[in-house]
Amino acid sequence: MRRVEIDLREGYTVYIEQGLLDNCGEYIEKICTGKRAVIVSDSNVAPLYAQRVADSLKTSGFETGLFTIPAGEESKNPENLVKCADFCAESGLTRSDVIVALGGGVITDMAGLCGALYQRGIAVCQIPTSLLAMVDSSVGGKTAVNLSKGKNMFGAFYQPSLVLCDSTVLSTLPSCEFANGMAEVIKYAVLRGGKVREIIDSDNLNETLDELIEECVKIKKDYVCEDEFDTGARQFLNLGHTIGHAIERRSNFSIPHGSAVSAGMCIVARACAEMSLCSSCTAQYIETVCAKYNLPTSVQMKEEELFSDSLSDKKRMGDKVTMVLIREIGDCYLEKTDVENIKNYINKGM
Ligand code: NAD
Ligand code: GLY
Repeated sequence: MRRVEIDLREGYTVYIEQGLLDNCGEYIEKICTGKRAVIVSDSNVAPLYAQRVADSLKTSGFETGLFTIPAGEESKNPENLVKCADFCAESGLTRSDVIVALGGGVITDMAGLCGALYQRGIAVCQIPTSLLAMVDSSVGGKTAVNLSKGKNMFGAFYQPSLVLCDSTVLSTLPSCEFANGMAEVIKYAVLRGGKVREIIDSDNLNETLDELIEECVKIKKDYVCEDEFDTGARQFLNLGHTIGHAIERRSNFSIPHGSAVSAGMCIVARACAEMSLCSSCTAQYIETVCAKYNLPTSVQMKEEELFSDSLSDKKRMGDKVTMVLIREIGDCYLEKTDVENIKNYINKGM
């Protein structure tokens, strides 16, 4: 059994083991005193896995309910958040009970926020089912839904009480969604090099998946534990995201988060090489590894439009934005710069 302790004031454990889905009740009963659980999932994941989670919870003495939303980013909205909270109330959930988030990042984000708000806070167990959710969104406590004006604009920092990663569920994840998760994995490799880089450079990803997830979660843990509320070191995790979010927005969210981050990271890498901040080999390596995992390395968009969309990034502070720049693989740095400068990175990187 692999486990990563997230050492925050209200810390929790991320367990990584194949088959965990069928034993989840044993772990969940340790994080709450109540015996009611609402499973929150989406229309793709629920038919595949919700029954197994419910069966395990029932074996551990829980009464369970299932709240399902249509799969996809459009569902991550305030209306579904309120419907989810209403469902919890109708199910008689009290503060000693638990919400079980079963799905990709859309579900971990929305159910996590519901956990933060329902009766001012209830235990949340994250059971991520996409690679992206396993290595990123289920850990660290960023929860949110989208507003019509922008992504993740309505949210809270709220840590889960438990995260259970069972990589066997990735067998049903469509390959394009697996690729989206790899974008965040490559981000960790660029930030820290090390074991994650070794694994993605090798050709035996399938045999090392659990180790890869563990190594990524350890890296995320380091940034989250240093800076839970995203005012300093955690901003490293935004590598490729300032331009990536602009790409997502400009595509009207038809380009998914991971693909947009991949293109955003390659644009920043090329810009860094162009400005002699990193070598062209480093930028070339990042492009090659993104292409190896079927991710885009560029986008067909107008530079001006991307720049204008990057201005509505919620990470912007007045007329300043913090960019994550690359010196070499495993050595990145933060640079607070005028938002106008994003134009330079876009022009040079496109
Ligand atoms: P997603 O939740 O939409 O899942 C992608 C698709 O895969 C969906 O259609 C889903 O139904 C399907 N799916 C998931 N697991 C499956 C499985 N095991 N088998 C079959 N189908 C499966 O998207 P995502 O890529 O997981 O997450 C993206 C979301 O995460 C975005 O909303 C993004 O903003 C958010 N995010 C949050 C954080 C954070 O720290 N909170 C970090 C990164 C991304
Ligand atoms: N996904 C970025 C963060 O958690 O800070």
